[in-house]
Amino acid sequence: VSEEDRIAGLRGDIRRLTEEILYLVAERSKLSEEIGRLKWIMGMPVQDPSVEQELRCLVRDKSVELGLDPMLSLRLLNLLLGESVTVQRGVRAGGEVSIASIIRKARELEASGDHVIHLEVGEPDFPPPRRVVEALKQALDSGLTRYTETVGIAPLREAIAEHLNRRLHLDLKQDQVIVTSGGRLALNLAVAASVKPGGEVLIFEPAYPAYKRLVEHYGGVVVSIPTSLEEGWTPDLERVKDLISGSTDLIIMNYPNNPTGKILDEDVFRGLVELASERGVTVLSDEVYMDYAFKPHRSILSHRDCRSIFVSSFSKSYGMTGFRIGYAISDGEVLKSMAELEGLTLTCIPEFIQHSAIAALECEDELSENVEKVRRRVEYVSKRLRELPLSSYKPDGGLYIFLKAGRPGFQSDRYALNLLQKYKVAVTPGKIFGEGYTNHFRVSLCQPEDILEEALRRIGESLS
Ligand SMILES: Cc1ncc(COP(=O)(O)O)c(C=O)c1O
Repeated sequence: VSEEDRIAGLRGDIRRLTEEILYLVAERSKLSEEIGRLKWIMGMPVQDPSVEQELRCLVRDKSVELGLDPMLSLRLLNLLLGESVTVQRGVRAGGEVSIASIIRKARELEASGDHVIHLEVGEPDFPPPRRVVEALKQALDSGLTRYTETVGIAPLREAIAEHLNRRLHLDLKQDQVIVTSGGRLALNLAVAASVKPGGEVLIFEPAYPAYKRLVEHYGGVVVSIPTSLEEGWTPDLERVKDLISGSTDLIIMNYPNNPTGKILDEDVFRGLVELASERGVTVLSDEVYMDYAFKPHRSILSHRDCRSIFVSSFSKSYGMTGFRIGYAISDGEVLKSMAELEGLTLTCIPEFIQHSAIAALECEDELSENVEKVRRRVEYVSKRLRELPLSSYKPDGGLYIFLKAGRPGFQSDRYALNLLQKYKVAVTPGKIFGEGYTNHFRVSLCQPEDILEEALRRIGESLS
């Protein structure tokens, strides 16, 4: 046979094998769907980290046996695991309670004349500082309404770097700063720039739900590391060590934490960061609640040896949620890639908004007042909670308290709907922050004390 015929024959074999792989993937998806249906009936979560880990070990061993590159096999497995999760979530779509469904329900009640207490959203109840509004108006009057550099105007980047340098005793340069549309876009750009398809991302649960959705959107695989109230929401370092693999693209951290209010002890935080540095994994540290810290909080930026992306925002600290402005700090290729995607997405943040953000960084007094207000609410709510059949961790920071009901079989999504329907209080079910938290729910502290008092009275009544 000629060499050309041999190539044609081999290509035919490859076509046949590729087809067989697809048949197997389709068969695997059918099995996943069936498992998903059974899990749904039995009230089990979609993902089981121990089963996923077992599969990873199997694939690693098998790759060695077959002489395959384990990294390639693990990435393929991760793609398959991602597909299983999508299929199994699809089985229960429609029956799930989401934050959007709670907000929709609350709106319906309000439209029919009910007064609802909103403890479901993390939006500060205080307005932006007067000086911010003035600066915004002045910027508009001066015609600062044009396109700017994608990464932000130099005076704002300079002001952000100086602000952080003053607070954290650093020497950040303005070219490490990228101004974004809220912390949300900074997170999106960070994940897009760091996660390869099939790459793993370690997330400590309970977690802000956007992390998981972003990672999956960009083809990555979430490796969840659950934490618990009983362990003071502290992640197990040994577990993290075991779960970091050659395919880990990112570790996401969020302290002060949404929803638990946890700030990690200094030695635990250092342990995690050192581990990431040793293994060459980038840490994405979401510190949008850094100002609401009621005990010392060390930023990732203070750990200079660690490759990191720091994210923060003007939304929570200054009551500027609707301004949609935040920022990220990083360097090198990651920062370049984030800037490129931001340019492609929205060109730049409105010029006048950027000018108002410079003014915000000069509003130290208003910031202190906001933080003090929330600190007083934490004290008040923590005291009142002792009278209710709920356990919780007294927040070290942030804007929320994550409550755990002791009653066996408590399903916080059903509870949240009932609380809203009957007692007109909206809260966020725990499942939204991780599948293992069905007996938890989150209340936000973004309401004045008298409203929080009334909400707690109604929650107490609902649980009696
Ligand atoms: C943990 C966390 N990160 C980021 C954000 C995004 O906030 P923004 O886009 O308004 O800055 C939020 C908002 O709730 C959050 O809770």
